[in-house]
Amino acid sequence: MKGAGAALRHDSALKHTTGEARFLDDTAEAAGTLHAALVLSPIAHGRLLALEDAAARAMPGVVAVLGARDVPGQNDIAVNEPLFADGLVEFAGQPLAVVVATTRDDALRAAAAIRAEITPREPVLSIERALELGQNVVAPQVMTRGDAARAIAAAPRRMEAEFRAGGQEHFYLEGQVALATPGEDGEMLVLSSTQHPSEVQHVVAKVLGGACHRVTVTCRRMGGGFGGKESNASWVAAVAALAASATGRPVKLRLTRRADMLATGKRHPFLYRWTAGFDAQGRVLGLEALLAADGGWSVDMSPGVVFRAVTHALNCCDVADVTITGCAVKTNTVSHTAFRGFGGPQGALLMEDVVHRVAAACGLPPEEVRARNFLGAPGKGEETPYGQKVEGDLIARVWAEARQDSDWDRRRGEIAAFNATHPTLRRGLGSMVLAFGISFGVMHLNQAGALVHVYADGSIRLNHGGTEMGQGLFVKVAQVVCDVFGTDLDRIAITATSTAEVPNTAPTAASTGSDLNGWAAHNAAETIKGRMAEVAATRFGIPVEQVIFADNKVWAERIGGNVVLEFSELAKLCFLERVSLSSTGFYRTPDIHWDRATMRGNPFFYFSYGAAVSEVIVDTLTGEHRCLRTDIVQDCGRSLNPAIDRGQIEGAFVQGMGWLTCEELWWDTQGRLRTVGPSTYKIPGSRDVPPIFNVRLLEGAPARSETIFRSKAVGEPPVLLAISVANALKDAIGVETLDLPATPERLLMALARREG
Ligand code: MTE
Ligand code: HPA
Ligand code: MOS
Repeated sequence: MKGAGAALRHDSALKHTTGEARFLDDTAEAAGTLHAALVLSPIAHGRLLALEDAAARAMPGVVAVLGARDVPGQNDIAVNEPLFADGLVEFAGQPLAVVVATTRDDALRAAAAIRAEITPREPVLSIERALELGQNVVAPQVMTRGDAARAIAAAPRRMEAEFRAGGQEHFYLEGQVALATPGEDGEMLVLSSTQHPSEVQHVVAKVLGGACHRVTVTCRRMGGGFGGKESNASWVAAVAALAASATGRPVKLRLTRRADMLATGKRHPFLYRWTAGFDAQGRVLGLEALLAADGGWSVDMSPGVVFRAVTHALNCCDVADVTITGCAVKTNTVSHTAFRGFGGPQGALLMEDVVHRVAAACGLPPEEVRARNFLGAPGKGEETPYGQKVEGDLIARVWAEARQDSDWDRRRGEIAAFNATHPTLRRGLGSMVLAFGISFGVMHLNQAGALVHVYADGSIRLNHGGTEMGQGLFVKVAQVVCDVFGTDLDRIAITATSTAEVPNTAPTAASTGSDLNGWAAHNAAETIKGRMAEVAATRFGIPVEQVIFADNKVWAERIGGNVVLEFSELAKLCFLERVSLSSTGFYRTPDIHWDRATMRGNPFFYFSYGAAVSEVIVDTLTGEHRCLRTDIVQDCGRSLNPAIDRGQIEGAFVQGMGWLTCEELWWDTQGRLRTVGPSTYKIPGSRDVPPIFNVRLLEGAPARSETIFRSKAVGEPPVLLAISVANALKDAIGVETLDLPATPERLLMALARREG
């Protein structure tokens, strides 16, 4: 099988491994191309008085130094989000100016020679302090059902708690980069490593003071995005375009890893405070919680992240009477942004903390307590507090299967026996179950477009609004088009995303890339196929319904195998008959709505489900730990490509594990990020992948909503499964809660506290 459902390799897999895949920085540079380097604020908060740049301007190769005053359009990349600090400095790492020079080294040297004169102000650096001051970038969003306070007061038992989770650096292998080439009449061609070409286009036009029709943005592929190139790519491209416009020459801006880590947003850190009422069986009867995200200095995408955290705070569980308040406070820190899961993983941590603490209080296993609170469990509802129906049977099913795959009961006994005899090592078993809503929380983003051409020789060119960041979107969408035309994959040219081919697109995000662009490409291909079928029907002298496209051929049903045209012959015939072989396609997700005022609605087209069991081992003398085995069952509906989906599940899990166990962002007391490279910021490596890693797609579970070929999104949900590792660590050291990431240091502190 070649079309939808085939386990084909990534279209660029071989090129990735041989190094032949071209990333933006591999693009041949036109003669006269200049290079840019950023000047970043060394101080977290203050008044920018002046930039001493005379020395830098005189340095070799320097062509220009540009700042807020040199922006011809608006010095604003969103709403009140200056491209370059203008007067007020809001975080250490904020762009103050850009140096343009003939080489990148010249630009970097000159940028380092620029001194900023800043009158410092007292920065706000913690969520607690910002909460005290009541300063938000996102006003509280309150999701409420029933009467939580009354339910808690009436419950047999009550508990109050607080915990926190850290942020995460995207650490895409290819850093932020853009190449802007000025043309005539104010045209600007921007090559950008971006998940959101349309936003890059919009921001470049705004900063240059022009309109979108003069700006073309393209992206063939990214070396990873993970949410970090959803909004942040825009300002990087705008700086390159500004420099290109000012100098009249092509300008490339490729951030150093250090500048990238200092100046671009990360996953939001969260502080949680909750009160729950429960019974002796561990059923949670009422819950009140505050989820306070650190938004950083500007709004960016924090409203969407808070929305997703709030709507995922109960995750796969149901609590009848509940009030969840989410907010994003304003601090003098880099503006936190989209990161795989987009607040969903942070939301889900809440219910896991509740489940584990309640379980400990009741003397019950946390798995038992979680299952008793499942959506659809006896006495529990099947509707989220915001009013959307969830498939409880699939929640129960993925958990039952993961439990069985992992041989849970036998290994529980084995681990207990090990821990009883070993003097210093402790093993632990933990689990996670997830229900993740698929669709953009911002309703208008749930749309996509495609452009398909069939050439007269029968070859097909596919273009759509989605971007490729390694997740395999391009091959999946190509498989959809193969399926429609009944052709092989090698007939289809996969092409770079471009605002000139498909306009007004959504970012490739919220795991919706293949859902949205798959349908759009399907619709474009169906339009062309319909026209081709008419031509074939006339040729064969049969009704159009009897024309079949398969095996690179076009067949006439019931006439037998002898009336057949090659797909290419039919394409040629269409051309000769003057029938159009090109079409756009469009798709908008049906049946979704959200009322922001009441925080109710049906915001998700469907839910994705999954479950995991992980085993860890901890050295109680050093706090060091590793994950020994993980078993995953993940719902992908009827997978478009099981090979790609498996890779996504593995990658998301390990990335999530990094967030929860070893990746720690560390700011000093002045608000300067000190973890600015791999030497101080530890991402998981190949040796951190669980040596036993059983990943399985849930079988026989086509999506119940009308998704493309009944497939389901997979990019983000499995991040949540990594919470099984954090839960296993709690189990290993005998605690019911942990602040995250659970670094060796934190585990040692938790052990010390437990031993009093
Ligand atoms: N996989 C790879 N290899 N690289 C990435 O940058 N980003 C993730 C996920 N998987 C990412 C990835 C994120 S944050 C999202 S939202 C989805 O891919 C986006 O792509 P999709 O919608 O096509 O799944
Ligand atoms: N995920 C990622 N990006 C987004 C979302 C989302 O849910 N909503 C708006 N932008
Ligand atoms: Mo993904 S965080 O939605 O780019």
